[in-house]
Amino acid sequence: MGIEVDAMPVSWVVHFLAIAGAVLVLVWNLHFRGGIAWESSDKSLIFNLHPVLMLIGLIIIGGEAIIAYKSLPLRKEVKKLIHLVLHAIALILGIIGINAAFRYHNESSIANLYSLHSWLGIGVIVLYGIQWLYGFVIFFYPGGSGPVKAASLPWHVVFGLFVYILAVATAILGFLEKLTFLESSGLTKYGSEAFLVNFTAIVTILYGAFVVITVFARGPPAEDDHSYSAIEG
Ligand code: HEM
Repeated sequence: MGIEVDAMPVSWVVHFLAIAGAVLVLVWNLHFRGGIAWESSDKSLIFNLHPVLMLIGLIIIGGEAIIAYKSLPLRKEVKKLIHLVLHAIALILGIIGINAAFRYHNESSIANLYSLHSWLGIGVIVLYGIQWLYGFVIFFYPGGSGPVKAASLPWHVVFGLFVYILAVATAILGFLEKLTFLESSGLTKYGSEAFLVNFTAIVTILYGAFVVITVFARGPPAEDDHSYSAIEG
């Protein structure tokens, strides 16, 4: 299934939204929330690593990994390598980001895993890990037989998009939850920080939408290289 639009210009919108999302989440946490830290007596700085790494790592780098087959004018073997390496980076940053949320909770004596956001978050990271491992074994090393690859490919695409959309939804719940906490402890409801957080969430949704559109958009016609059949080889 495809959409009658060229993937390349759509992928430029993805790159633009990637930069916008990264800048917004950094301004929020570095300027408004006092910064980020791996270790600190101010435990909120440890928490601040969480949204920064989840958005820039799992969502933004993960999205760039998904569109690599459509956005890069390179040979399919090179694109396959970029796809799997970017996904590995996204997964590792996601694991470190979740670890930061747990450390913040543990070091501040706050309960773990009480919210829908946290339950979906665990689901997302586990499914993302399974998807990466299965893809690595079947499409990269040691590699499945021709029929196994052909049968796995549509599932890889559908399951991968499902996990990615769930990740975007989980991040949106995270923004909502954090802003609600902040507003219940006195943050001005129509203040600049509240607007910034809501706009970051909107940019995140648009980013996810354009990643999905790029996946279904048309690669350059002459080169079959840009189609999904490219990952079979
Ligand atoms: C797809 C991206 C994300 C995933 C997979 C994820 C996952 C998680 C997990 C597993 C926890 C539980 C930690 C614990 O119980 O100790 C958590 C906590 C939290 N996350 Fe996220 N997160 C994501 C993005 C975000 C974003 C962008 C924000 C925005 C600020 C955020 C805000 C929070 C908050 C406020 C908590 C603490 C309260 C709670 O446990 O629900 N998260 N996250």
